[in-house]
Amino acid sequence: MRADRVHSLCAILFSSLSFVHPALGIDLTIDDEQSVKDASSEAIWGAMTFYHGNESGQIPGALPEKWWEGSALLLAALNYWHFTGDDTYNEDVSVGLQWQGGDHGDYMPSNYSSYLGNDDQMFWGLSALTAAEYGFPDRKEGFSWLSLAQGTFNTMKARWDNESCGGGMRWQLFVYQGSGYTLKNAISNGGFFQLAARLAMYTQKSEYADWARKTWEWCLTTPMINNKTWTINDSTQGSNNCADTDHMQWSYNYGVFLAGAAYMYTFYTYPKKTNDSYWLEVVHGILGSIFKIFFPKGIMYDPDCEIAQNCNNNEVLFKGEVVTWMALTALMIPDLYDEIMPKLKNSAVGAAASCSGLGNNSCGVRWYQSKFDGHHSMEAEISSSCVLSVNMLPFVDRDKKKPLNIHKGGNSKSDPNAGNLKDNDDAAAAALSPITTGDKAGAAILTVAFIGGWLGLAAFMFIGA
Ligand SMILES: *[C@@H]1O[C@H](CO)[C@@H](O)[C@H](O)[C@H]1NC(C)=O
Ligand SMILES: *[C@@H]1O[C@H](CO)[C@@H](O)[C@H](O)[C@H]1NC(C)=O
Ligand SMILES: *[C@@H]1O[C@H](CO)[C@@H](O)[C@H](O)[C@H]1NC(C)=O
Ligand SMILES: *[C@@H]1O[C@H](CO)[C@@H](O)[C@H](O)[C@H]1NC(C)=O
Ligand SMILES: *[C@@H]1O[C@H](CO)[C@@H](O)[C@H](O)[C@H]1NC(C)=O
Ligand SMILES: *[C@@H]1O[C@H](CO)[C@@H](O)[C@H](O)[C@H]1NC(C)=O
Ligand SMILES: *[C@@H]1O[C@H](CO)[C@@H](O)[C@H](O)[C@H]1NC(C)=O
Repeated sequence: MRADRVHSLCAILFSSLSFVHPALGIDLTIDDEQSVKDASSEAIWGAMTFYHGNESGQIPGALPEKWWEGSALLLAALNYWHFTGDDTYNEDVSVGLQWQGGDHGDYMPSNYSSYLGNDDQMFWGLSALTAAEYGFPDRKEGFSWLSLAQGTFNTMKARWDNESCGGGMRWQLFVYQGSGYTLKNAISNGGFFQLAARLAMYTQKSEYADWARKTWEWCLTTPMINNKTWTINDSTQGSNNCADTDHMQWSYNYGVFLAGAAYMYTFYTYPKKTNDSYWLEVVHGILGSIFKIFFPKGIMYDPDCEIAQNCNNNEVLFKGEVVTWMALTALMIPDLYDEIMPKLKNSAVGAAASCSGLGNNSCGVRWYQSKFDGHHSMEAEISSSCVLSVNMLPFVDRDKKKPLNIHKGGNSKSDPNAGNLKDNDDAAAAALSPITTGDKAGAAILTVAFIGGWLGLAAFMFIGA
């Protein structure tokens, strides 16, 4: 470390003559506010260099062939603003989040709707809802952040499926997607659960909480979630009436249910309501598994792909999503702060050290190695950015960083009927007849089906890829 410091001093001197960044890792002193802020700034900048949606001729919020990841990138920039106060990227976030809402404000834009999955759409809805919770101003024209989340919720709710396994959300939306259509997976159900729980908290309306509870209870009827061992497996197959499950352990499946349960707990215990020990038990159970499986040595990792070094782009993003959900959990349930924060700190130190690649502080995937591991990507930049941003928590007024709601500062405009259910039918029709738009377009759609509809597939098909 000492030798590194000398080198990075030289690099800084050099960088004042050119625009090359220090080459020996993002400099981070975890207990120093300014250092954490600077490190966060460097990481989000690294991620945003991959964004071109703000350039003329480009589409706001869109990343070629990675539709859902646009929501992860914009969410990282939103987190950066929320935790550091630096609004450099706010206009890009605002324009991109709005544009991808599509014509009806439900994140089913017709360019992508014939191959998106429930999880893809859900991630955009969660990003919009996060904007509302952070008090990110609605745009003067267009859809409010809250209504974009409500539109997502309404179109997803209409797809609740009781043709198999007595309920649940499918992974994919369309019959032509075969086993992806019959599959019911943790992230689609956990995402819908979290979206509903957060909408309940923000609007203080129990209809949303009822849907969250219904989704959770359905999950417990399948072998996908075990509430004795607090194991969350990736998916269960509807064509087999959800008789069994895979064994994949992905951090985001745990994280998505953790935060959802924390919102449910907060919803039921919020002033004037009763203390809800049920949801607190769920939070504790899942958090215990997260610590055990994904933080065995204090620094977060996703064992199912990091050990074999075959994480795909989606999987590289999981750590960023999960640390953000853990931070929100620590904000809403302050009793958990002392348990969660040390894990976030250790992980940030590892992540910053991994950001020492390619002579420009590019970030790697395996934080626990505390050096650049050669796997450079936008996704690695995003995850590092998220874990650095949440490390501002020790320096801020945490009460002020809690998610807002309609009784406490939340003023994003509500539209309980947002979204257009016809989008579901239109997308299904488009998916059924890709040929009518020409062989080329049809082929493109089918190719992208496997790139765009990615999540559970990550567990099923890309292992060992
Ligand atoms: C760092 O360098 C690599 C390789 O030249 C490049 O692909 C990447 O975009 C650069 N990253 C940043 C943040 O400039
Ligand atoms: C687009 O955003 C990037 C990253 O924030 C920034 O460097 C670039 O200047 C922006 N381009 C335009 C045209 O605004
Ligand atoms: C859909 O594609 C068209 C043509 O490329 C583009 O102009 C439009 O911005 C896209 N819409 C979205 C929501 O990506
Ligand atoms: C199936 O779901 C639909 C829509 O939520 C509902 O109207 C219907 O009653 C359900 N059927 C059964 C058998 O639960
Ligand atoms: C665990 O799941 C079973 C079956 O759904 C349920 O009866 C029980 O109340 C659940 N316990 C907890 C703590 O969730
Ligand atoms: C879920 O996966 C875990 C970890 O591989 C495994 O121990 C457990 O048996 C699986 N659950 C079921 C119901 O198969
Ligand atoms: C709620 O109840 C749980 C256990 O029943 C307890 O540990 C917790 O401190 C209580 N929280 C509040 C805010 O009263």
